[in-house]
Amino acid sequence: MAKQWRGVIREYFDRLPVSEHTPIITLGEGGTPLIPAPALSRRVGAEVYVKYEGMNPTGSFKDRGMTMAISKAMERGAKAVICASTGNTSASAAAYATAAGIRAAVLVPDGKIAMGKLSQAVAHNAHILQIDGNFDVCLTVARQLSERYPVHLVNSVNPDRIEGQKTAAFEVIDVLDRAPDIHVLPVGNAGNITAYFKGYREAQEAGEISKLPMMWGFQAEGASPIVLGHAIENPDTVATAIRIGNPASWAQAIEARDVSGGYIGAISDEKILEAHRILSAEVGIFVEPASAISVAGLLNRHEAGLVPGGSTIVLTVTGHGLKDPQWALHGLDGVETTPTQMSSDVDEIADALGLASRA
Ligand code: F0G
Repeated sequence: MAKQWRGVIREYFDRLPVSEHTPIITLGEGGTPLIPAPALSRRVGAEVYVKYEGMNPTGSFKDRGMTMAISKAMERGAKAVICASTGNTSASAAAYATAAGIRAAVLVPDGKIAMGKLSQAVAHNAHILQIDGNFDVCLTVARQLSERYPVHLVNSVNPDRIEGQKTAAFEVIDVLDRAPDIHVLPVGNAGNITAYFKGYREAQEAGEISKLPMMWGFQAEGASPIVLGHAIENPDTVATAIRIGNPASWAQAIEARDVSGGYIGAISDEKILEAHRILSAEVGIFVEPASAISVAGLLNRHEAGLVPGGSTIVLTVTGHGLKDPQWALHGLDGVETTPTQMSSDVDEIADALGLASRA
């Protein structure tokens, strides 16, 4: 029988805080492809790979952390879990809670949740509450609920989430047989940059890699508290996944940046959508806008002359394009791309396609 990937807990059992008493709740997450991106390599004069986290069971990297968070919650006897979310965490929590046979409650900000993500939470029968406030407000409420009521918090402030998500760094090393020189990723609540950095550090301590990659993180200009150095009350960006004004793992993100000699910068919505298009139309990978910021960030640094020639670079793209497909159809100007209407006449169609007759 063909070998099947067993999910991140079984694949990295010895490197996670689990034991034979931990019930393993998995949907087969992880083992995502590290895809060479020649079009990006040519653009920046380096060797660029894309870690396509949209290939996880619910379409985002959250599943790596959620398999751990839900498994550990079950080990501790949880009957219900709760999270605040811009969409992907709620989709993942809902799916893994279902797999565990418990209920997930999710708090989502008013509006600004991509349709695909909301559909997932509904489909997996989560208890969905839309809160009058942004993500930061939702997270504060979720934390207080978990302190005062019998419900386990599965946001990335839960250390089990970080443990699960660090496996993505292990996978990159397993494929490259080394760490990249630079690792680029989006920053929202800053859990994922924290998790990757923990993974790389552990690999270095284990003697698997000789040096850490520089961690480059990017926030959307309208939601860039770390770059500005202060919290933002009303964050705004087309990249709704990272529409966050006061990241919970702020200090850890700064540490990852500084210890690795890295960088955290801000990118405009225009540049995010431009990169979204480059990734889909030149590389062949469809992501949601928040994920495209990795590409936009790399191109931005290249324009500034700050991408070392010939270096090995991994871009994490965090969520699948089908989560929030509207940005492929119409950009910031709102002009919608629609297919040209045609009859079924073969010659007319050939003409429209610019095909010459075979004679
Ligand atoms: N990319 C996507 C697609 C996300 O959904 C998120 C976070 C991030 C990047 C940023 O990761 O928060 O670890 O820095 N989404 C959370 C959610 C906030 O609720 O789904 P981070």
